[in-house]
Amino acid sequence: MQDTITKTPKLEDSRILYEDDEHQYIWFGWEEEEGTESFVQTNQCLILNHDQGYFFDPGGTYVFHHVLENIARYVNPRQLRYIIATHQDPDVCSSIPYWMKATDAELLISRLWLHFVSHFGLEDVSRVLPVPDGGVRIKLNSGDELLMIPAHFLHSEGNFCIYDSRSQILFSGDIGAAIFPHGERYLFVEDFQQHLHYCAGFHKRYMHSNRLCRMWAERVAKLPIRMIVPQHGAIYAGEQVGQFLSWFRDLKCGGDYAEQIYANERF
Ligand SMILES: [Fe+2]
Ligand SMILES: [Fe+2]
Repeated sequence: MQDTITKTPKLEDSRILYEDDEHQYIWFGWEEEEGTESFVQTNQCLILNHDQGYFFDPGGTYVFHHVLENIARYVNPRQLRYIIATHQDPDVCSSIPYWMKATDAELLISRLWLHFVSHFGLEDVSRVLPVPDGGVRIKLNSGDELLMIPAHFLHSEGNFCIYDSRSQILFSGDIGAAIFPHGERYLFVEDFQQHLHYCAGFHKRYMHSNRLCRMWAERVAKLPIRMIVPQHGAIYAGEQVGQFLSWFRDLKCGGDYAEQIYANERF
């Protein structure tokens, strides 16, 4: 496979977001090559708990070799217990056939996408576990839990966020995503109003409707959350978490703009 993505030298490509004697939460960020517009930048996360690994969202085919190399700096890929895909998009899991060969992990993905991931080239789905709409609790060896929390229609019909009870970090998939101009990327959100320039447009079109945003934001706000890590763009930490959740709760998007979106139809 040809590697067409290079790391941007400006920004680090991995960071330990949480660490104690039993548990590590590591962020990886991959960026498209400077000067190309073909790929959207993606974040991956790895949790290590008592020598077992939990990895999400694995990413697209073209980042596979880079991501595997980086993961291997922290854990033997054969120690990955679960690979989790928040939803079915190619930037989330088109690399899945390679990961299934490189690891012995099982893939957790919404039951809606069980028979669709095969189209990325996965012949054997015996290690693909369909997640029911209500989500799942994954017990870690330390006694902590990883929660796959429903986030359906935000933006995929079968969609989950991943909450780690030990670190209190929420991996939110495409919720909270930002797309930066080349060279403008930063790791943590510092000025929320400024950050909206990079994420508001994405949410208005890719998210379903205010009803679903509100439902999700109100449920998630009940959890103690130290950080929100989206699949694209920057991390919300500390007071930025509340800022983002209250913005998202009131967001009008998708179907709320149906008339506007269809205004220029030619048929
Ligand atoms: Fe997506
Ligand atoms: Fe995405």
